[in-house]
Amino acid sequence: MQIPDTLIERMRTARRVAVLTGAGVSAESGVPTFRDAQTGLWARYDPAELASPDAFRANPKLVWQWYAYRRALVEAAAPNPGHLALADLERRIEDFTLITQNVDGLHRRAGSQNVVELHGNLFRYRCFHCAAPVELTIAPQDAPPPCPQCGGLVRPDVVWFGEWLPSQAWQTAVAAAERCELFLCIGTSGVVRPAADLPLIARSSGAYAVEINIAPGALDDRLDLHLYAPSGQLLPALMTAAFGDAAR
Ligand code: APR
Repeated sequence: MQIPDTLIERMRTARRVAVLTGAGVSAESGVPTFRDAQTGLWARYDPAELASPDAFRANPKLVWQWYAYRRALVEAAAPNPGHLALADLERRIEDFTLITQNVDGLHRRAGSQNVVELHGNLFRYRCFHCAAPVELTIAPQDAPPPCPQCGGLVRPDVVWFGEWLPSQAWQTAVAAAERCELFLCIGTSGVVRPAADLPLIARSSGAYAVEINIAPGALDDRLDLHLYAPSGQLLPALMTAAFGDAAR
């Protein structure tokens, strides 16, 4: 796998690095992406029926069961070498921010610390009506439980279509993109905004921006470098190329 010297050099010298990940970084852990043909969740399910406030109002049981199915998929999965390589990179960089669109929590399970979850987390819950955070040790499978505060329905704490991103997370992500010297954009189709704007914000703020994906997507030719290979293979190879066998 040919990794350009310019990227290896920047990995070694950058003091401020920001990374954006999408579903592709978890694909090699067996977690389906959203838009990959046939295998992607949106190729098999209708997002309008499952991932919007209207969908939850219309059929809360269907939506709840679908997220229970996704939680089970993720619980059966493990971080892959791509996740582990990013956790290793964080330990070597003074100012490192890992911004993810993923709700699977696999980056933290891989040991990453400074993780910004733009689209929420499958294993967190809040009330659909009063928005109060709700702790569920064991989430019921079949139907959303009632909110202990207001009796309303509990929903997963993820960002649905038509909803705003959590403002603190977005501000942290933009600040990291604006100040970084190197921006890695990994395993995202780059079609969902505002997350897809981050690599462009970083580039226009002077950072060297790199895409890592298995195939060209919406970001094609808009960054400084595009590397097409599975992230679970390319990221460990990049760490070894930059930091030698010390990479763990
Ligand atoms: N390594 C690198 N990239 C990969 C791999 C892999 N092993 N496998 C797939 N990919 C790439 C695909 O080529 C595609 O570009 O990952 C990308 C996955 O794109 P999407 O399925 O669109 O996922 P993502 O970009 O994370 O979606 C953004 O959309 O549905 C909403 O909220 C959901 O966070 C999600 C958002």
